[in-house]
Amino acid sequence: MCDLTPFTTVLHIDCSARTADSVSRRLSQAVVDQLFTLEPGLQLLRRDLGIEAPPPVNDTEAEAFFTPPPHRTAGQVTALADSDTLTEELLSADILVLGTPMYNFNVPASLKAWIDYVVRPGKTFRRVANGNLEGLCGDKKVYVCTASSGKSIGTGMDHLRPYLDVIFGFIGIGNVVYFDAEGLAWGEQERERSINAAVESIHQHFDVSRHSDAGQNPVE
Ligand SMILES: Cc1cc2nc3c(=O)[nH]c(=O)nc-3n(C[C@H](O)[C@H](O)[C@H](O)COP(=O)(O)O)c2cc1C
Repeated sequence: MCDLTPFTTVLHIDCSARTADSVSRRLSQAVVDQLFTLEPGLQLLRRDLGIEAPPPVNDTEAEAFFTPPPHRTAGQVTALADSDTLTEELLSADILVLGTPMYNFNVPASLKAWIDYVVRPGKTFRRVANGNLEGLCGDKKVYVCTASSGKSIGTGMDHLRPYLDVIFGFIGIGNVVYFDAEGLAWGEQERERSINAAVESIHQHFDVSRHSDAGQNPVE
């Protein structure tokens, strides 16, 4: 069996509003399945933002995020509890697997709300010399599985991938691996082709049998 050390914990997040026939969920599950085939001993953390997303950041939270911990009021500390939980969850994971639809050329509001809760000064990024900012999550591996009706990924209309690249880069994660199923409303044949191609590219990326035989680590 190949060695996934030091990867121990997977955070699996979905955010599609659809729970039954969601393509992004299907793809993210395929990535998780590959990881667990490679290393059955991984710990799994699960967050389904499509079912339960954090509410938009409110007044108290917005103030609390940028108030140094020793100066926070009791109300601010309480208000940050959900953000703290989600942030600790992200920090405790070595691998993030994210399934996301494209909604109006960007991520769903549920995922945006999660991002607003976990991009935290002093926790996932910090200020360093000369006013520069430094991401604190650089040791993580991120896989993103996208689903969209049309075919705008990589075009000027695409605000999903560039946005996620900026966000993950901001918290220190430079190498995000994407698996995309596009054209899902371009007829049944194209839909099937696109889903199958995305699943195949996931299998090829991990290439479980080859890496198991060779004792290599495909999580790179
Ligand atoms: C609110 C909403 C906005 C959408 N916006 C877009 C879009 O901008 N571009 C696109 O290609 N598809 C768009 N779609 C279609 C979804 O991306 C597509 O149905 C995808 O399969 C959803 O992912 P899921 O299968 O995981 O639920 C939108 C769907 C919804 C519900």
